[in-house]
Amino acid sequence: MESAQEIKAKVLEVFAEKYGSNEGARVFFAPGRVNLIGEHTDYNGGHVFPCALTIGTYAAVRKHEDRVLRFYSMNFEEAGVVESSLDDLKPLKDEGWTAYPKGVIWAFGEKGHVIDQGFDLVLYGNIPNGSGLSSSASVEVLTGYFLRSLYRFEGVTNIDIALTGQYSENNYNGVNCGIMDQFAIAMGKKDNAIFLDTSTLQYTYAPISLRGMKLVIACSNKKRGLGESKYNERRAECEKALSEIQTLVDVKSLGELDEPTFGKVESLIRDDVRTRRARHAVYENRRTISAAKALKAGNITLFGQLMNASHESLRDDYEVTGKELDTLVDAARKIPGVLGSRMTGAGFGGCTVSIVKDANIDEFIEKVGREYLEKIGYAADFYVVEIGDGPQEII
Ligand code: GLA
Repeated sequence: MESAQEIKAKVLEVFAEKYGSNEGARVFFAPGRVNLIGEHTDYNGGHVFPCALTIGTYAAVRKHEDRVLRFYSMNFEEAGVVESSLDDLKPLKDEGWTAYPKGVIWAFGEKGHVIDQGFDLVLYGNIPNGSGLSSSASVEVLTGYFLRSLYRFEGVTNIDIALTGQYSENNYNGVNCGIMDQFAIAMGKKDNAIFLDTSTLQYTYAPISLRGMKLVIACSNKKRGLGESKYNERRAECEKALSEIQTLVDVKSLGELDEPTFGKVESLIRDDVRTRRARHAVYENRRTISAAKALKAGNITLFGQLMNASHESLRDDYEVTGKELDTLVDAARKIPGVLGSRMTGAGFGGCTVSIVKDANIDEFIEKVGREYLEKIGYAADFYVVEIGDGPQEII
């Protein structure tokens, strides 16, 4: 993998090409993320257990005197330099990739921060697009991070950057995501996962020492298509199920329920599909709490089993896996040295995460890759990833 310094040099070179010179341009980085367990729990007041990665998004940026904004992405070269203005930021327009940085500028403005000068920007990401490793949240946190530095926002913490990124995704981009992705990215810590209670934003870092094992990401390369509307639909189903439970029981979120309590109240949900959605939210949250404990106790075997159970629940009760992700997971589980394998992120395409013993990684990539190609008709991509730090300026 290219080093941060090599990428910085490359991004600055493109900056000079597009904008005349790179004098005064600064380079920032924000990671992507992978969620180990705790899927579709974050908007249900439950726990999540993600970590930031060493791959992510880089921005070279330079302020100027007028209110013009210029965006160029090395990942979407065909879009060219996209020009806009600070006076032209309006939610829910179809603006391609620039909707992510624009949304964050807009969101900080909504929260009362003054951004009175435009900037030129070059972006470069080494997170595979549409992989479910949160390339969009990475751009959001990256934008919040460099805005804070360039415009000297007072008292804005990394958690505020995460919350503003989520606010922008909800309101500017129209996706009702929870806080997990932005939080994992803004608060990332090398070699640690983040055990986050999304109902309070209380969190602890959990050191991940996978002695003799690695995290392997398998990217399905399935185009997500309807993913965003399905995501909003799942969220609405959970909200409806909660409101039905609330007719008799005083709870604020599905994350407050444990398994026995859910057993007592599930008959209040007047629809089988919604019951399954809520069951996933409740059980997945409990699994996530158990997984964090298992990891603390050094019990990776149990951690892997909980990852497997998570996938089953996402497949059968939450119905967000699809044949591509199921094929990857089924093939992975046939390989010796795989402790656990599950889809990660929103689902409907995207990728899986597996814990694989070092000795079996080549075999994993070869055999899972072959089975996927045979069954699905196009290839998957594989990445052996490392857990990295949160956003930073590359000096
Ligand atoms: C997406 C969302 C997150 C979370 C996951 C599912 O990544 O952005 O907030 O809901 O899906 O766990």
